[in-house]
Amino acid sequence: MSTRRPTKAVIPVAGLGTRFLPATKATPKEMLPVVDKPAIQYVVEEAVQAGLTDVLMVTGRNKTSLEDHFDRNVELEISLEAKGDQERLARVHEATDLAHIHYIRQGDPRGLGHAVLVAAQHVGNEPFAVLLGDDLIDERDPLLSRMLEVQEQRGGSVVALMEVPQAQIHLYGCAAATATDKDDVVQVTGLVEKPPAEEAPSSLAVIGRYVLSAAVFDVLRETPPGRGGEIQLTDALETLATMSAADGGGVSGVVFRGRRYDTGDRADYLKAVVRIASDRDDLGPEFVVWLGEFVAERQRAASDASATGDQATS
Ligand code: UTP
Repeated sequence: MSTRRPTKAVIPVAGLGTRFLPATKATPKEMLPVVDKPAIQYVVEEAVQAGLTDVLMVTGRNKTSLEDHFDRNVELEISLEAKGDQERLARVHEATDLAHIHYIRQGDPRGLGHAVLVAAQHVGNEPFAVLLGDDLIDERDPLLSRMLEVQEQRGGSVVALMEVPQAQIHLYGCAAATATDKDDVVQVTGLVEKPPAEEAPSSLAVIGRYVLSAAVFDVLRETPPGRGGEIQLTDALETLATMSAADGGGVSGVVFRGRRYDTGDRADYLKAVVRIASDRDDLGPEFVVWLGEFVAERQRAASDASATGDQATS
Protein backbone atom coordinates (compact mmCIF):
# COMPACT_ATOMS: atom_id res chain seq x y z
CA MET A 1 0.00 0.00 0.00
CA SER A 2 1.43 3.40 -1.03
CA THR A 3 2.05 5.96 1.72
CA ARG A 4 2.39 9.02 -0.54
CA ARG A 5 0.81 12.19 0.83
CA PRO A 6 -2.71 12.37 -0.62
CA THR A 7 -3.39 14.67 -3.57
CA LYS A 8 -6.93 13.57 -4.36
CA ALA A 9 -10.21 14.57 -2.78
CA VAL A 10 -13.49 12.76 -3.34
CA ILE A 11 -16.67 14.74 -2.68
CA PRO A 12 -19.88 12.69 -2.73
CA VAL A 13 -22.82 14.87 -3.76
CA ALA A 14 -25.30 12.26 -4.94
CA GLY A 15 -27.54 12.10 -1.86
CA LEU A 16 -31.24 12.89 -2.14
CA GLY A 17 -31.22 15.73 0.41
CA THR A 18 -34.64 14.81 1.76
CA ARG A 19 -34.23 16.92 4.91
CA PHE A 20 -34.26 20.05 2.78
CA LEU A 21 -37.25 19.39 0.52
CA PRO A 22 -38.74 21.03 -1.46
CA ALA A 23 -35.64 23.22 -2.05
CA THR A 24 -33.67 20.12 -3.02
CA LYS A 25 -36.26 18.68 -5.38
CA ALA A 26 -34.47 19.98 -8.48
CA THR A 27 -31.28 21.45 -6.92
CA PRO A 28 -28.59 19.48 -5.09
CA LYS A 29 -28.37 20.55 -1.45
CA GLU A 30 -24.68 21.27 -2.00
CA MET A 31 -25.70 24.11 -4.35
CA LEU A 32 -27.75 25.96 -1.72
CA PRO A 33 -26.12 29.38 -1.20
CA VAL A 34 -24.37 30.14 2.05
CA VAL A 35 -24.41 33.95 1.80
CA ASP A 36 -23.32 34.31 -1.86
CA LYS A 37 -21.45 31.05 -2.60
CA PRO A 38 -22.92 27.56 -2.88
CA ALA A 39 -21.95 25.30 0.02
CA ILE A 40 -19.92 23.08 -2.31
CA GLN A 41 -17.54 25.92 -3.22
CA TYR A 42 -16.49 26.31 0.44
CA VAL A 43 -15.80 22.56 0.52
CA VAL A 44 -13.68 22.59 -2.65
CA GLU A 45 -11.79 25.64 -1.34
CA GLU A 46 -11.06 23.73 1.86
CA ALA A 47 -9.67 20.76 -0.10
CA VAL A 48 -7.46 23.04 -2.18
CA GLN A 49 -6.23 24.85 0.92
CA ALA A 50 -5.15 21.48 2.34
CA GLY A 51 -3.15 20.78 -0.85
CA LEU A 52 -5.68 18.54 -2.62
CA THR A 53 -5.98 19.91 -6.13
CA ASP A 54 -7.50 16.86 -7.83
CA VAL A 55 -11.18 16.74 -6.93
CA LEU A 56 -13.61 14.03 -7.94
CA MET A 57 -17.29 14.75 -7.39
CA VAL A 58 -19.56 11.74 -7.18
CA THR A 59 -22.80 13.07 -8.58
CA GLY A 60 -26.30 11.82 -9.17
CA ARG A 61 -29.34 13.34 -10.76
CA ASN A 62 -29.34 17.16 -10.92
CA LYS A 63 -25.61 17.27 -11.55
CA THR A 64 -25.87 19.96 -14.22
CA SER A 65 -25.89 22.94 -11.88
CA LEU A 66 -22.83 21.62 -10.02
CA GLU A 67 -20.86 21.15 -13.23
CA ASP A 68 -21.98 24.54 -14.53
CA HIS A 69 -20.88 26.26 -11.34
CA PHE A 70 -17.28 25.09 -11.72
CA ASP A 71 -17.23 25.65 -15.49
CA ARG A 72 -16.81 28.85 -17.51
CA ASN A 73 -19.87 30.98 -18.24
CA VAL A 74 -18.61 32.84 -21.28
CA GLU A 75 -21.78 34.85 -21.86
CA LEU A 76 -21.73 36.17 -18.31
CA GLU A 77 -18.01 36.91 -18.50
CA ILE A 78 -18.43 38.89 -21.74
CA SER A 79 -21.27 40.87 -20.23
CA LEU A 80 -19.33 41.74 -17.05
CA GLU A 81 -16.24 42.60 -19.09
CA ALA A 82 -18.28 44.94 -21.31
CA LYS A 83 -19.49 46.71 -18.16
CA GLY A 84 -15.96 46.86 -16.77
CA ASP A 85 -17.17 45.07 -13.63
CA GLN A 86 -13.83 43.49 -12.71
CA GLU A 87 -14.85 42.71 -9.14
CA ARG A 88 -17.80 40.51 -10.10
CA LEU A 89 -15.79 39.02 -12.96
CA ALA A 90 -13.16 37.90 -10.46
CA ARG A 91 -15.88 36.29 -8.35
CA VAL A 92 -17.15 34.38 -11.39
CA HIS A 93 -13.60 33.14 -12.13
CA GLU A 94 -12.97 32.01 -8.53
CA ALA A 95 -14.91 28.78 -8.92
CA THR A 96 -13.51 28.01 -12.38
CA ASP A 97 -9.85 28.32 -11.45
CA LEU A 98 -9.93 26.46 -8.13
CA ALA A 99 -8.91 22.89 -8.93
CA HIS A 100 -8.95 20.08 -11.48
CA ILE A 101 -12.51 18.89 -11.00
CA HIS A 102 -13.72 15.57 -12.37
CA TYR A 103 -17.20 14.07 -12.22
CA ILE A 104 -18.51 10.55 -12.03
CA ARG A 105 -22.06 9.31 -11.68
CA GLN A 106 -23.05 7.11 -8.78
CA GLY A 107 -26.11 5.67 -10.53
CA ASP A 108 -28.48 4.67 -7.73
CA PRO A 109 -27.78 6.47 -4.45
CA ARG A 110 -27.00 3.27 -2.52
CA GLY A 111 -25.31 5.01 0.39
CA LEU A 112 -22.15 6.95 1.22
CA GLY A 113 -20.01 3.80 1.16
CA HIS A 114 -21.23 3.03 -2.34
CA ALA A 115 -20.52 6.63 -3.45
CA VAL A 116 -16.91 6.28 -2.22
CA LEU A 117 -16.53 2.92 -3.98
CA VAL A 118 -17.50 4.56 -7.27
CA ALA A 119 -14.29 6.64 -6.93
CA ALA A 120 -12.00 3.57 -6.79
CA GLN A 121 -10.67 3.69 -10.33
CA HIS A 122 -9.96 7.43 -10.23
CA VAL A 123 -8.20 7.23 -6.87
CA GLY A 124 -6.03 4.18 -7.55
CA ASN A 125 -3.76 2.75 -4.89
CA GLU A 126 -3.05 5.75 -2.67
CA PRO A 127 -4.60 7.35 0.38
CA PHE A 128 -7.20 10.01 -0.41
CA ALA A 129 -9.53 12.44 1.33
CA VAL A 130 -13.33 12.36 1.38
CA LEU A 131 -15.19 15.58 2.13
CA LEU A 132 -18.96 15.58 2.45
CA GLY A 133 -20.33 18.35 0.30
CA ASP A 134 -22.94 19.47 2.82
CA ASP A 135 -20.60 19.68 5.80
CA LEU A 136 -18.91 23.07 6.27
CA ILE A 137 -15.83 23.47 8.42
CA ASP A 138 -14.97 27.07 9.31
CA GLU A 139 -11.79 27.97 7.46
CA ARG A 140 -10.33 29.45 10.65
CA ASP A 141 -10.42 26.01 12.30
CA PRO A 142 -8.36 23.86 9.94
CA LEU A 143 -9.25 20.20 10.25
CA LEU A 144 -8.32 18.50 7.00
CA SER A 145 -4.65 19.52 7.05
CA ARG A 146 -4.38 18.15 10.60
CA MET A 147 -5.97 14.87 9.45
CA LEU A 148 -3.50 14.59 6.55
CA GLU A 149 -0.64 15.14 8.99
CA VAL A 150 -1.98 12.43 11.32
CA GLN A 151 -2.39 10.03 8.38
CA GLU A 152 1.23 10.65 7.37
CA GLN A 153 2.41 9.94 10.92
CA ARG A 154 0.18 6.99 11.82
CA GLY A 155 -0.78 5.48 8.41
CA GLY A 156 -4.11 3.71 7.91
CA SER A 157 -7.24 5.85 7.78
CA VAL A 158 -8.29 8.92 9.75
CA VAL A 159 -11.79 10.07 10.63
CA ALA A 160 -12.92 13.44 11.99
CA LEU A 161 -14.72 13.21 15.32
CA MET A 162 -16.69 15.73 17.32
CA GLU A 163 -18.17 15.53 20.83
CA VAL A 164 -21.96 15.83 20.57
CA PRO A 165 -24.67 15.77 23.27
CA GLN A 166 -25.85 12.22 23.99
CA ALA A 167 -29.32 13.07 22.71
CA GLN A 168 -27.90 13.74 19.24
CA ILE A 169 -25.61 10.74 18.80
CA HIS A 170 -28.32 8.75 17.00
CA LEU A 171 -27.91 11.17 14.07
CA TYR A 172 -24.25 10.25 13.45
CA GLY A 173 -21.77 7.43 13.12
CA CYS A 174 -20.27 6.93 16.58
CA ALA A 175 -16.71 5.84 17.48
CA ALA A 176 -15.36 3.73 20.32
CA ALA A 177 -11.86 5.06 20.91
CA THR A 178 -8.85 5.04 23.20
CA ALA A 179 -6.55 7.97 23.98
CA THR A 180 -3.13 8.49 22.39
CA ASP A 181 -0.25 10.70 23.53
CA LYS A 182 -1.75 13.55 21.44
CA ASP A 183 -4.62 15.49 22.98
CA ASP A 184 -6.56 15.72 19.68
CA VAL A 185 -5.88 12.20 18.36
CA VAL A 186 -7.54 8.91 19.38
CA GLN A 187 -7.20 5.31 18.24
CA VAL A 188 -10.57 4.16 16.91
CA THR A 189 -11.42 0.64 18.08
CA GLY A 190 -14.93 0.38 16.67
CA LEU A 191 -17.63 2.30 14.86
CA VAL A 192 -21.40 2.07 14.73
CA GLU A 193 -23.77 3.96 12.42
CA LYS A 194 -26.50 6.06 14.08
CA PRO A 195 -26.79 4.08 17.36
CA PRO A 196 -29.61 4.70 19.86
CA ALA A 197 -28.18 6.85 22.71
CA GLU A 198 -28.21 3.92 25.17
CA GLU A 199 -26.13 1.76 22.81
CA ALA A 200 -23.61 4.45 21.77
CA PRO A 201 -20.03 3.54 22.76
CA SER A 202 -19.11 7.22 23.28
CA SER A 203 -20.26 10.75 22.52
CA LEU A 204 -17.74 11.02 19.66
CA ALA A 205 -19.61 11.55 16.40
CA VAL A 206 -18.07 11.01 12.97
CA ILE A 207 -18.32 14.20 10.90
CA GLY A 208 -17.85 14.71 7.17
CA ARG A 209 -14.08 14.56 6.67
CA TYR A 210 -12.06 11.37 6.12
CA VAL A 211 -8.57 10.48 4.96
CA LEU A 212 -8.81 6.89 3.78
CA SER A 213 -6.38 4.15 2.93
CA ALA A 214 -7.02 2.64 -0.53
CA ALA A 215 -7.70 -0.62 1.35
CA VAL A 216 -11.19 0.78 1.95
CA PHE A 217 -12.19 -0.13 -1.62
CA ASP A 218 -11.73 -3.88 -1.17
CA VAL A 219 -13.54 -3.64 2.16
CA LEU A 220 -16.45 -1.71 0.59
CA ARG A 221 -16.79 -4.33 -2.15
CA GLU A 222 -17.48 -6.87 0.61
CA THR A 223 -19.64 -4.61 2.79
CA PRO A 224 -23.33 -5.57 2.66
CA PRO A 225 -26.06 -2.91 2.90
CA GLY A 226 -26.39 -1.84 6.52
CA ARG A 227 -28.56 0.71 8.29
CA GLY A 228 -31.38 2.01 6.06
CA GLY A 229 -30.49 -0.59 3.41
CA GLU A 230 -27.50 1.58 2.37
CA ILE A 231 -23.84 0.60 1.98
CA GLN A 232 -22.41 2.47 4.94
CA LEU A 233 -18.90 3.94 4.98
CA THR A 234 -19.04 3.60 8.78
CA ASP A 235 -19.39 -0.20 8.43
CA ALA A 236 -16.32 -0.35 6.15
CA LEU A 237 -14.37 1.77 8.65
CA GLU A 238 -15.39 -0.59 11.44
CA THR A 239 -13.77 -3.42 9.42
CA LEU A 240 -10.66 -1.32 8.69
CA ALA A 241 -10.30 -0.60 12.43
CA THR A 242 -9.83 -4.32 13.07
CA MET A 243 -7.41 -4.97 10.17
CA SER A 244 -3.62 -4.98 10.47
CA ALA A 245 -1.50 -2.02 9.39
CA ALA A 246 0.22 -4.30 6.84
CA ASP A 247 -3.14 -4.73 5.09
CA GLY A 248 -3.88 -0.99 5.11
CA GLY A 249 -5.99 -1.24 8.28
CA GLY A 250 -6.02 0.89 11.42
CA VAL A 251 -8.23 3.93 12.02
CA SER A 252 -7.26 7.07 13.93
CA GLY A 253 -9.59 9.89 14.91
CA VAL A 254 -8.87 13.61 15.03
CA VAL A 255 -11.11 15.25 17.62
CA PHE A 256 -12.33 18.53 16.16
CA ARG A 257 -13.28 21.35 18.53
CA GLY A 258 -13.92 24.09 15.97
CA ARG A 259 -16.93 25.43 14.12
CA ARG A 260 -18.82 23.10 11.79
CA TYR A 261 -22.21 23.31 10.06
CA ASP A 262 -24.31 20.58 8.50
CA THR A 263 -25.89 22.59 5.68
CA GLY A 264 -28.17 19.66 4.84
CA ASP A 265 -29.99 20.40 8.12
CA ARG A 266 -32.26 23.45 7.95
CA ALA A 267 -31.47 24.91 11.39
CA ASP A 268 -27.72 24.39 10.97
CA TYR A 269 -27.89 25.89 7.49
CA LEU A 270 -29.49 29.06 8.90
CA LYS A 271 -26.79 29.29 11.59
CA ALA A 272 -24.07 28.93 8.93
CA VAL A 273 -25.55 31.76 6.87
CA VAL A 274 -25.88 34.08 9.89
CA ARG A 275 -22.42 33.32 11.26
CA ILE A 276 -20.60 33.59 7.92
CA ALA A 277 -22.47 36.78 6.94
CA SER A 278 -21.69 38.30 10.36
CA ASP A 279 -17.98 37.57 9.91
CA ARG A 280 -17.73 39.06 6.42
CA ASP A 281 -16.04 42.46 6.16
CA ASP A 282 -18.34 43.61 3.38
CA LEU A 283 -21.66 42.52 4.94
CA GLY A 284 -20.98 41.89 8.62
CA PRO A 285 -20.93 45.34 10.25
CA GLU A 286 -24.35 46.38 8.90
CA PHE A 287 -25.85 42.89 9.23
CA VAL A 288 -24.81 42.47 12.88
CA VAL A 289 -26.38 45.83 13.82
CA TRP A 290 -29.61 44.75 12.11
CA LEU A 291 -29.44 41.35 13.81
CA GLY A 292 -29.09 42.99 17.24
CA GLU A 293 -32.13 45.21 16.56
CA PHE A 294 -34.12 42.25 15.24
CA VAL A 295 -33.43 40.16 18.35
CA ALA A 296 -34.23 43.10 20.68
CA GLU A 297 -37.50 43.68 18.81
CA ARG A 298 -38.44 40.00 19.16
CA GLN A 299 -37.67 40.08 22.87
CA ARG A 300 -39.75 43.26 23.36
CA ALA A 301 -42.68 41.70 21.47
CA ALA A 302 -42.44 38.52 23.56
CA SER A 303 -42.35 40.44 26.87
CA ASP A 304 -45.24 42.71 25.77
CA ALA A 305 -47.26 39.61 24.87
CA SER A 306 -46.57 37.99 28.24
CA ALA A 307 -47.44 41.25 30.10
CA THR A 308 -50.75 41.45 28.18
CA GLY A 309 -51.38 37.78 29.01
CA ASP A 310 -50.70 38.47 32.72
CA GLN A 311 -53.17 41.40 32.73
CA ALA A 312 -55.83 39.30 30.99
CA THR A 313 -55.56 36.53 33.58
CA SER A 314 -55.39 38.81 36.66
P1 UTP B 1 -26.64 12.28 3.88
O1 UTP B 1 -27.26 11.13 4.54
O2 UTP B 1 -26.42 13.53 4.64
O3 UTP B 1 -27.32 12.71 2.53
O4 UTP B 1 -25.29 11.77 3.19
P2 UTP B 1 -28.73 12.65 1.96
O5 UTP B 1 -29.23 11.27 1.91
O6 UTP B 1 -28.64 13.41 0.68
O7 UTP B 1 -29.52 13.59 2.97
P3 UTP B 1 -30.96 13.51 3.63
O8 UTP B 1 -30.71 12.83 4.96
O9 UTP B 1 -31.87 12.75 2.71
O10 UTP B 1 -31.38 14.94 3.79
C1 UTP B 1 -24.03 12.31 3.45
C2 UTP B 1 -23.32 12.67 2.16
O11 UTP B 1 -23.20 11.56 1.31
C3 UTP B 1 -23.71 11.84 0.03
C4 UTP B 1 -24.64 13.02 0.22
O12 UTP B 1 -24.71 13.79 -0.98
C5 UTP B 1 -23.99 13.76 1.36
O13 UTP B 1 -22.95 14.62 0.90
N1 UTP B 1 -24.35 10.61 -0.49
C6 UTP B 1 -25.22 9.93 0.30
C7 UTP B 1 -24.06 10.18 -1.76
O14 UTP B 1 -23.28 10.81 -2.50
N2 UTP B 1 -24.65 9.04 -2.21
C8 UTP B 1 -25.51 8.34 -1.44
O15 UTP B 1 -26.00 7.28 -1.92
C9 UTP B 1 -25.80 8.79 -0.16
